[in-house]
Amino acid sequence: GGRFRLHQRGLRGTMRLFVSEGSPGSLPVLAAAARARGRAELLISTVGPEECVVPFLTRPKVPVLQLDSGNYLFSASAICRYFFLLCGWEQDDLTNQWLEWEATELQPVLSAALHCLVVQGKKGEDVLGPLRRVLTHIDHSLSRQNCPFLAGDTESLADIVLWGALYPLLQDPAYLPEELGALQSWFQTLSTQEPCQRAAETVLKQQGVLALRLYLQKQPQPQPPPPEGRTVSNELEEEELATLSEEDIVTAVAAWEKGLESLPPLKLQQHPVLPVPGERNVLITSALPYVNNVPHLGNIIGCVLSADVFARYCRLRQWNTLYLCGTDEYGTATETKAMEEGLTPREICDKYHAIHADIYRWFGISFDTFGRTTTPQQTKITQDIFQRLLTRGFVLRDTVEQLRCERCARFLADRFVEGVCPFCGYEEARGDQCDRCGKLINAIELKKPQCKICRSCPVVRSSQHLFLDLPKLEKRLEDWLGKTVPGSDWTPNARFIIRSWLRDGLKPRCITRDLKWGTPVPLEGFEDKVFYVWFDATIGYVSITANYTDQWEKWWKNPEQVDLYQFMAKDNVPFHGLVFPCSVLGAEDNYTLVNTAAGGAGRARL
Ligand code: 2FM
Ligand code: ZN
Repeated sequence: GGRFRLHQRGLRGTMRLFVSEGSPGSLPVLAAAARARGRAELLISTVGPEECVVPFLTRPKVPVLQLDSGNYLFSASAICRYFFLLCGWEQDDLTNQWLEWEATELQPVLSAALHCLVVQGKKGEDVLGPLRRVLTHIDHSLSRQNCPFLAGDTESLADIVLWGALYPLLQDPAYLPEELGALQSWFQTLSTQEPCQRAAETVLKQQGVLALRLYLQKQPQPQPPPPEGRTVSNELEEEELATLSEEDIVTAVAAWEKGLESLPPLKLQQHPVLPVPGERNVLITSALPYVNNVPHLGNIIGCVLSADVFARYCRLRQWNTLYLCGTDEYGTATETKAMEEGLTPREICDKYHAIHADIYRWFGISFDTFGRTTTPQQTKITQDIFQRLLTRGFVLRDTVEQLRCERCARFLADRFVEGVCPFCGYEEARGDQCDRCGKLINAIELKKPQCKICRSCPVVRSSQHLFLDLPKLEKRLEDWLGKTVPGSDWTPNARFIIRSWLRDGLKPRCITRDLKWGTPVPLEGFEDKVFYVWFDATIGYVSITANYTDQWEKWWKNPEQVDLYQFMAKDNVPFHGLVFPCSVLGAEDNYTLVNTAAGGAGRARL
């Protein structure tokens, strides 16, 4: 890679380094700070371990380096790296590799060992046992290279970072096994150098590892590192690790070394993007956000950023790629927000659709289209799927008892009722659950129920509803899952959720609601009802495509030629992996079904 160049400003400006007695990260940082002397003005302040130096971090963190620009670095090795760059170090692969190793392999075992020793007061093999593997690794690398330092003949950034991490433990000879001779002499060489000695005095105050006690007590208990031989990630099951051939690896290395030049130029995107027979065609969706909030970083990380990265990758591969998203505008989430803001649901949707679209544009998310679910296309396609399900006998009718507020003239969704818990007598139980005893409640069982809006007492009314006959569709679903899931990229999490729903047996699902804000149900006697938001939310992806191009069926009724990747997680999985597939399997209209239920970190809501 190219050489990392620092801003002129950074070279001349003033930096502030905050360290704290008893904080392990302060050791390497102070040792490395010596390097920066003469290159920039550096003020070092000692603060208490609880001081909130970085205003936007949720927990106090030291060491911290505040740069001249006002930005902060707050990981010890990033700060050390900065000091080394200041004094003209040109980064090299071996050092970078050691830093990676320090962060991912050494730190987890080390923090567990320190916790065990200092907080739990254990000793000897309890502490040393889990550490042997990493200590041996360092020892072997040193003796194999036959160099006194980790990255060559002279002391490097890697030495300082690892020395700083290990010093609190290894300064006690009990934890520096004699047979690891190369490690011993490396450690002694570094420990006798002036900057390191001074750092140790400042941070440990001659108290040895016990100086860290206060600091370590405040840290969350470290997770025990995974047993040896397993991957660190808990998401991948062994069977799912892709195997790479020698050839794959050689090609990847060659491409990496050539960098961007090795890539063919991006295909000029024609509009609208459409699948081409015989080519790879990828349809990507991110879960459609409700319009009751302003998206924040968490929402974006959840299932937008990961899908965006994937979409960019697909385009680089020259695949015909359509990446879409939009706002999910029906349902009680919108009605509640409308009441809160004193606007109509339509006004709320218009307002928040614009806000969402703007924010994603600002982030540079590469949607090909960002639509919404409250459009005539949505009504048309939803009603069509429903009609087909109805004609084919996959829709049931049943009577449901519900609470209705006569004063407000509306049936009350669970979150609009409050009352006395029938199990524990708690006065403010919600319509679906009691916050005191935690039991699930059926709203009509609440004692002394109250309408949350006008506080009057609702009555029990029965009302006709429609149900999707999932038991009747279960066989088709299982056949499809059996063909699709094995060998696919479905996340382990999505597989698990679907498996457990199937294990418990599918039940008919109510797909209508007594609300006004939703897709109308085209059936006599149901004029006052709308579809349940989750019946048509997933159809939103289809209608958003239909608003993007009148040739939408090339994407959505083309399972042979289109690969559909859906990014969503958690409570969205059953609707994407089960309810929607059942609806379109039952509709028998050759719909494209999801090939990959791709996770992402999960959806973060406010
Ligand atoms: O959970 C949610 O935030 C939903 N609005 C996601 C819908 S995804 C798709 F089905 F529309
Ligand atoms: Zn009421």
